[in-house]
Amino acid sequence: MASWAIIGLLAVCHASYITAYTKFPEGFTFGVATAAHQIEGAWNVSGKSENVWDRLSHTRPEMIADGTNGDIACDSYNRYREDVEELAHLGVDFYRFSLSWSRILPTGFIDELNPDGVRYYNDLLDALAEHNIEPLVTLFHWDLPQSLQDLGGWANPKMIDYFRDYADVCFKQFGDKIKSWITFNEPYEICEDAYGDEKKAPAVDSHGVGNYLCSDTLLKAHAEAYHLYNETYRPVQNGKIMISINSIWYEPSDPENAEQVALAEVANQFKFGWFAHPIFTEEGGYPAVMVENIARQSASEGLNKPRLEQFDDYWIERIKGTSDFLGINHYTTHLITGAGVDPIAKSPSWLKDIGAVTTMNVGGDSASEWLRVVPTGFANLLRWCKSSYNDPPIYITENGFSDRGTLQDYGRIQYFNEYLSVILNVIYDDGVRVLGYTAWTLMDNFEWRAGFSERFGFYYVDITHPDRPRTPKLSVDYYRQLIANRELPQDERFKDPAVRRL
Ligand code: NOJ
Repeated sequence: MASWAIIGLLAVCHASYITAYTKFPEGFTFGVATAAHQIEGAWNVSGKSENVWDRLSHTRPEMIADGTNGDIACDSYNRYREDVEELAHLGVDFYRFSLSWSRILPTGFIDELNPDGVRYYNDLLDALAEHNIEPLVTLFHWDLPQSLQDLGGWANPKMIDYFRDYADVCFKQFGDKIKSWITFNEPYEICEDAYGDEKKAPAVDSHGVGNYLCSDTLLKAHAEAYHLYNETYRPVQNGKIMISINSIWYEPSDPENAEQVALAEVANQFKFGWFAHPIFTEEGGYPAVMVENIARQSASEGLNKPRLEQFDDYWIERIKGTSDFLGINHYTTHLITGAGVDPIAKSPSWLKDIGAVTTMNVGGDSASEWLRVVPTGFANLLRWCKSSYNDPPIYITENGFSDRGTLQDYGRIQYFNEYLSVILNVIYDDGVRVLGYTAWTLMDNFEWRAGFSERFGFYYVDITHPDRPRTPKLSVDYYRQLIANRELPQDERFKDPAVRRL
């Protein structure tokens, strides 16, 4: 029993959640994740071209909370060997990182392959191999070449071809060293936050329109990359390929309120189902409730066509089943308080299309406004995925906690302990097939519009120092011990003294 964890949990009243399990099943794997733009730096050297985050942070620095950018970030382009040493110290089974499209193909197209970019990733892959660390590689983690954004980015259907071409280059160049691929990281964030809002670059903010154009393109691009891998590369490279879908999980604020319960399901279909339903259900296509709600809203707006239309039969079939695992990024749970138009919803918009009012949950705070500690929500999400998507094999491809950068990061340790306990519970009690876990993130890095003000890392990074020195936080010891023993650590020193005193 993780007795201290339980006492700690009860003491801080995060949740009435208790686990009986501490030991992970045989074969369960552990990793950590990063993303190219968040760590690499070297934004305009060795042949790399501008991406949408370079453009946003340079031309609209006021959009980044602390005015920073990814120009140098953690300087991993030059310091990747240190990164690999840290990974080896943690003892991870795998390292999830992403490839920078604009570093590999500076024009965005396949007419120009950047030898330095290819060399960099080969060197990183070789360093990982020296330490027996498996790569889990994301093709697209938000850093679109600006040249392609100039053509409309993910709202442009030609992106299906451009992404397939880029994927082809990556499979060809690196596929002999990579057995696990992720096509897209968090399609919701790519489409809703960047094309339906200004929360992410390129900040197009075509709410209720651009976000849905994006999802059509992105899901087709994903399917094409999958089929390419499946037919051409898998027979010789023997790898796996999946997509990582993000969920802020929605729950009714009053579980006894039938309307809220129904609306929470609608919200989860809009959030997670938007990208999961077309790929992971037998029926395929966008969730019916999305199609219906958006058609109704569009008609009431005087449009002659819905802003989101169901895929035709060809694409329903083509997209269905195109992921070997369900990759889940999960951080937190929000609440539904009732029907209506959320006061923060723009018109038209994805949020207005849901037709529910959302709010933050009760739960421990992090440094990120959107992130509260709600482990029970994670358990419900995982059980829902099992029942909604025919018991898929699942990898948690991200999960983590932000603070302001303290080295004694008890909040992070407690978060990991609680969320990992949930995983054990759903594996053993509910038979959810979670096969591996990825902690976000190796080191403090460029947290998009939050810059370096919200820190998710195991290692603290001093971004005022030219060498970007990395200092281990207490959570390094926690995760290292966890991985070494394949068991939730029992050690008293991982428990927050403030809680211990209670
Ligand atoms: C999800 C994203 O994939 C990652 O880039 C980001 O840093 C974390 N969430 C934390 O917000």
